[in-house]
Amino acid sequence: MQWTALLFALAAPSRALVRFHCSQLVTERLDPLVQPGANPSAHVHQIVGGNSFNATMDPGKDMPGESTCTSCEFSDDFSNYWTAVMYFRAQNGSYKRVRQLGNNLFRNATGGLTIYYMQDAIYDPAQKSKVTAFQPGFRMFVGDVQARTLAQASRFRQLTYTCLDTFVTRSPELIAFPQRKCQEGIMISARFPTCWDGKNLDSPDHMAHMSYPETGTFESSGPCPASHPVRTAQVMYEVVWDTKPFNDLEWPKDGSNPFVWSFGDATGYANHADYVFGWKGDALQKVLDSPCHFTTNCSEYGHKLQSVADMNKCTKGTVVEEDIDSWLPSLPGGFQAQYAPVSV
Ligand SMILES: *[C@@H]1O[C@H](CO)[C@@H](O)[C@H](O)[C@H]1NC(C)=O
Ligand SMILES: *[C@@H]1O[C@H](CO)[C@@H](O)[C@H](O)[C@H]1NC(C)=O
Ligand SMILES: *[C@@H]1O[C@H](CO)[C@@H](O)[C@H](O)[C@H]1NC(C)=O
Ligand SMILES: *[C@@H]1O[C@H](CO)[C@@H](O)[C@H](O)[C@H]1NC(C)=O
Repeated sequence: MQWTALLFALAAPSRALVRFHCSQLVTERLDPLVQPGANPSAHVHQIVGGNSFNATMDPGKDMPGESTCTSCEFSDDFSNYWTAVMYFRAQNGSYKRVRQLGNNLFRNATGGLTIYYMQDAIYDPAQKSKVTAFQPGFRMFVGDVQARTLAQASRFRQLTYTCLDTFVTRSPELIAFPQRKCQEGIMISARFPTCWDGKNLDSPDHMAHMSYPETGTFESSGPCPASHPVRTAQVMYEVVWDTKPFNDLEWPKDGSNPFVWSFGDATGYANHADYVFGWKGDALQKVLDSPCHFTTNCSEYGHKLQSVADMNKCTKGTVVEEDIDSWLPSLPGGFQAQYAPVSV
C-alpha cells in the first residue's frame, strides 16, 4: 500500500479523504433502487448502512429519521450501499455463497463493504479540490448487469477485481474475475462517476444524471462536461470476498473461474454497485470539508464515529424467506452460471 505510506509521510490535506467500513446490515433479494417494491427482487444483494432499508425507499424517505442504527463507522451515515453477492460453483453444479470479510484495518467487522469519499485521486496527499456532497433523495448505480464481454464492460471505468495474494494486495486491478486461486480472497472495487447534472436526484437508468469527466479521469482532475457540471466526491466501494475456503475444493479442469455473481455472470464483466444517499443533514459535506484522513482523526473535527462492535450490532432480519446459504442447485431466483458468449 504505497500510497498510504505516502499519505502518512507527506500529508497535509486541505480536505478529507475518508475511508470507513460498514458491517453487514442484511443479505437478501431486495433492490429498492432498481426494483422498488419487489419482494423478492431478481438477485441476492449484500446491503450495509442505515436500518431503515426496505423493499421500498421513496426518494422523500427520511432515512436518518427512520433508522435506529447504522452499520457504518460514521454514526451520521444512514445511507444504504450494496452490491450483488458472489457464489462458488462446484463441479457438481451446486452453488455456495461466498462470504465477505472485514477489510484491512477492519478485520473484526462482519462482512459488509468499505467506502471511500475522496476529493482528489487516492494517491494525492493534498486533497485540495472542493467537492459537493449529495442531497437527500440522491441515488445512483454503476455497471451493467447484462454485460458479458469486455466491450460491454468498457463503457465503465474502474469496476475492478484484485486477486489478493496478501490481504493488502492492491494491484493489478482486473476487469474480469481472476483466473487463478487467490490466496487471501478476491477484492472488488467499484468507483462511481463523479460529475452530477446538478438537477436530478435520480434518472430512469439511475446513471444518466451522473457522468464521468469529459476528458481524463477523476484522478487526473479531468473536467466535468457542461451537461454534468457539478463535481462530486469520488465514491468507491471495496468488498473483500472470502474465496479462500473454496481453494481446496475441486476447480474446473479447463482452468476457468468457478466464481459467479448472484445473477449468473461468471465472466465478471457485470460487476455493479448501488448507492442511496442518507447522511444526516449536512454531515457528509462537513466531513468532506475537514482535513481528516481515513477515519483515524475524524473525531478531532467533531465527526461522530462508532466502534466496530457497535457497527456489527446494527443488523436487520430478512423479509425474503428463502435459503441463500446451503449448497443450492441454482442461484436464488433461479439463475445458472453464464459464461462469455462464444464469438464467431
Ligand atoms: C489529521 O490527519 C491529517 C493527515 O495525516 C493531518 O494533516 C491533520 O493535521 C490531522 N489533524 C489533526 C487534528 O491531527
Ligand atoms: C418501507 O418503508 C416505508 C416508510 O419509509 C413504508 O411506507 C413502506 O411500507 C415500507 N415497505 C415495506 C415493504 O416494508
Ligand atoms: C456438490 O459439491 C459440493 C462441494 O464438493 C458438496 O459439498 C455438495 O454436497 C455437492 N452437492 C451435491 C448435490 O452432490
Ligand atoms: C478484534 O477482536 C479480537 C477478539 O475479540 C480482539 O482481541 C482484537 O483487539 C480486535 N481487534 C481490533 C482491531 O479491534
